[in-house]
Amino acid sequence: MLHLKSVNLKKQKIETLAIPVCEDKDIHQDPAIQAVIKKALKLNEFSGKKDEAVTFYDLPEIKTRRVMLAGLGNFKNLDRETLRTMAGKSVKSCINNELANLWFAVPAAEKLDLKPSEVIEAMQEGAYLANHIFQKYKGEKKNKTLKQLNFLVNRQVAGKFRHLCSKVAAVCEGTYLAREWVNTPSNEKTPEKFTRSIVNLAKKQGLRVQVINEAQLKQKKFGALLAVAAGSQSKPSLVVLEHKVPGAKKTVALVGKGVTFDSGGLNIKTGGSMADMKCDMSGAAAVAATLITAARLKKKVNIIGAIPIVENMPSGQAIRPGDIIRSYAGKTIEIGNTDAEGRLILIDAMSYVIKRYKPQMLVDLATLTGACVVALGEKIAGVFSNDDDLAASITAAGEKTHERCWRLPLPDDYKELLKSDFADINNMPSSRNGGAVTAALFLADFVDDTRWAHIDIAGPAYHKKESDYCGPGATGFGVRLLTELLGKI
Ligand code: BES
Ligand code: ZN
Ligand code: ZN
Repeated sequence: MLHLKSVNLKKQKIETLAIPVCEDKDIHQDPAIQAVIKKALKLNEFSGKKDEAVTFYDLPEIKTRRVMLAGLGNFKNLDRETLRTMAGKSVKSCINNELANLWFAVPAAEKLDLKPSEVIEAMQEGAYLANHIFQKYKGEKKNKTLKQLNFLVNRQVAGKFRHLCSKVAAVCEGTYLAREWVNTPSNEKTPEKFTRSIVNLAKKQGLRVQVINEAQLKQKKFGALLAVAAGSQSKPSLVVLEHKVPGAKKTVALVGKGVTFDSGGLNIKTGGSMADMKCDMSGAAAVAATLITAARLKKKVNIIGAIPIVENMPSGQAIRPGDIIRSYAGKTIEIGNTDAEGRLILIDAMSYVIKRYKPQMLVDLATLTGACVVALGEKIAGVFSNDDDLAASITAAGEKTHERCWRLPLPDDYKELLKSDFADINNMPSSRNGGAVTAALFLADFVDDTRWAHIDIAGPAYHKKESDYCGPGATGFGVRLLTELLGKI
């Protein structure tokens, strides 16, 4: 459904063409497109300001039925994200007008400060990501997404960059998958159901799949993971996905928090803060979707995805504040608060992966703390790492994909906030301040000398309101970021 083509607009009939326009510079090369823009600017109805849009019909210069001019704003501010949002908005407006196909006039890269591949990729991503609606549970009034997204370039560019279409489509399909999982309500994605869904799709993609079920978790002494699962009617699992490449030297492990619903447990959350807790498996969704994407793209690095899946519920069987449990690694943990459950399932999965696979690096993704949202807001993830290069690679990957990440510290002297009088460590810090940091320090206690990074995605994983290239709810944050990162290490 993504196409990169070269056509003559004076000859070929096109239903809808979106033309991005800067307010202060001509960025196109096709004389027909330049003529159309000139005409519109002359009419004084459109000036190319960012987010400005105007539609013209049946212009005599070209055989296009409908031309949508889309403002990009000032040339000096033109970056990949501006192209993504422009493309996303154009797609959404076509969906709302029940159109089926859309063409984009791709600006000439020579006239921009970007590489041709960057221009094409950014526009395709914004368009593709916007062309997804989660409406599985809607009866009537379903919106139709666009069937074809075409990108108009000159002939040389079309030939040289056609391969980008399948790459962009794979990464965006991965993002769709993560969004679908996260948007699915918790009654429809109990740990058993979520596990099965991951297993089915991963197998289809040719990944090696292992499910450690409840009995095996007990036998192998995953005490922290089991403690969180204890209150739920649903059985927990640890799903391990493997993308193996013959001859590859490096193994990267990805771990994702998979709490299918976080009620808080006996330290139950209040109404408002519990409302969106179906999103508490966003890390798991991103990791599973990244492995599937990596397999699709035949990435040349060994990847292990470890996904602990539980539901955090209160009940007569639930763990209590004050309980002391023994983790997979053997350390005892005092449960200061049953709502700090993410770190418990993560450390058991991480300890297992480190012991079993000895990865050269490990990255975990988790909707771990509300405190991270307080610190960085809803659009930026927190990164914590014991390795400067890894932290820098993650931040750089996030800049490229616009899944922004900001590094926060792991100060040694804050560790005492996690001291327990009776066990090796407490899952609840003694201070409410710096909650994202103390959560990361808890994880750090279980990684030994493995190169490790933790990405707290509590803010960017789920947005109540829609945005330029995402519907309301799950954003799929992390899939493009991790896929980009895997290409760079
Ligand atoms: N799942 C939550 C964190 C969260 C908050 C995710 C908002 C998405 C949006 C996590 O399990 C949690 O409840 N954390 C507690 C930790 C505290 C009890 C130490 C928090 O952030 O308050
Ligand atoms: Zn919680
Ligand atoms: Zn949680």
